[in-house]
Amino acid sequence: MSRNILLLPGDGIGPEIVAEAERVLARVNDRFSLGLNFEQALVGGAALDACDTPLPEDTLAKARQADAILLGAVGGPKWDALPMAKRPEKGLLGLRSSLELFANLRPAILYPQLASASSLKPDVVSGLDILIVRELTGGIYFGQPRGVRHLENGERQGYNTYAYTESEIRRIGRVAFEAARQRNGKLCSVDKANVLEVTVLWREVMEDLTREYPDVALSHMYVDNAAMQLVRAPKQFDVIVTGNMFGDILSDEAAMLTGSIGMLPSASLNSQKQGMYEPCHGSAPDIAGQGIANPLATILSAAMMLRYSLGEEEAANAIEAAVSQVLDQGLRTADILSEGTRKVSTREMGEAVLAAL
Ligand code: NAD
Ligand code: IPM
Ligand code: MN
Repeated sequence: MSRNILLLPGDGIGPEIVAEAERVLARVNDRFSLGLNFEQALVGGAALDACDTPLPEDTLAKARQADAILLGAVGGPKWDALPMAKRPEKGLLGLRSSLELFANLRPAILYPQLASASSLKPDVVSGLDILIVRELTGGIYFGQPRGVRHLENGERQGYNTYAYTESEIRRIGRVAFEAARQRNGKLCSVDKANVLEVTVLWREVMEDLTREYPDVALSHMYVDNAAMQLVRAPKQFDVIVTGNMFGDILSDEAAMLTGSIGMLPSASLNSQKQGMYEPCHGSAPDIAGQGIANPLATILSAAMMLRYSLGEEEAANAIEAAVSQVLDQGLRTADILSEGTRKVSTREMGEAVLAAL
């Protein structure tokens, strides 16, 4: 069996971290005879520079044909002044919506070795293992109308629309209930139903789903409280389900519980379980080109790819075990450095994972 993996390194640290993940994938490909073939394409600023669009037709065509996609990150100051439709981020958003990757899984797991790298006290975060299920192709990111308009008084007004249909809510709800069922049977839906009608409907549909999943205990929390609870007592959560923008924000917050945003992988899936895998962080322009970025979020995203899109649980486990072993050895990129550990570069971290494999 042969499977096509599309690599989209993107911008900033993207190429540096994807290179390490690619080497790790190549290694497990040999070791477990996975039959993976690798292809690369341009997205984001790299695509803008080469073809004047953040999502070239060729990239989208390759993405549609791929069995799975691994993306680094897009964006950077070079392209920040471009109009919205031409920004690198539109390349990523275009991939998500074209492939209908509505279910974004963002697991925040604290490796015990990193307890002292977290900005929270070890007893608050030790043993942390939560899953944020973020809706990814709807909500305020995609709602119409949107834009900047001129008002009669001569002022400009910027506006976006926060909308969800029942079916959009139901399908992300089902993903979250299924995940909760396979974990601890506990699901917290995060909304702003005290203010926004769209999330009143969100809450209603989530409640409806409890009839399909009577074994899952559903609770609701307002997003402002959830942001606070995540740093007060994060272990009260197991699976969190929320909309596109709240999920974006809460997952960056959850990343810090695990020591660094450089540790947080993600999977973006459609209903055929085709998936795009990417670290939760961005292109980190402040450290790009220095060879110091943490490649582990991308390497762990590759493990998620093996598990969710390719059904290669054993290879996925091997990568995760290798990451854990490297942390045992005390090797740390700068973002997770703590007393008594040794600072390594992006490449050295990748090398160490390879060696552990
Ligand atoms: P960012 O995640 O790129 O960086 C935030 C901070 O975290 C920076 O200090 C950065 O150095 C650090 N960081 C991020 N990843 C790291 C890693 N692997 N190792 C060590 N440190 C790491 O967020 P930002 O600065 O707000 O955004 C920069 C650019 O990235 C913007 O153009 C933004 O739109 C884009 N972005 C892209 C994605 C994506 O492609 N999925 C996600 C988020 C942001
Ligand atoms: C992420 C990023 C993206 C998002 C941006 C770059 C479009 O922040 O993947 O978390 O907001 O979804
Ligand atoms: Mn984000």
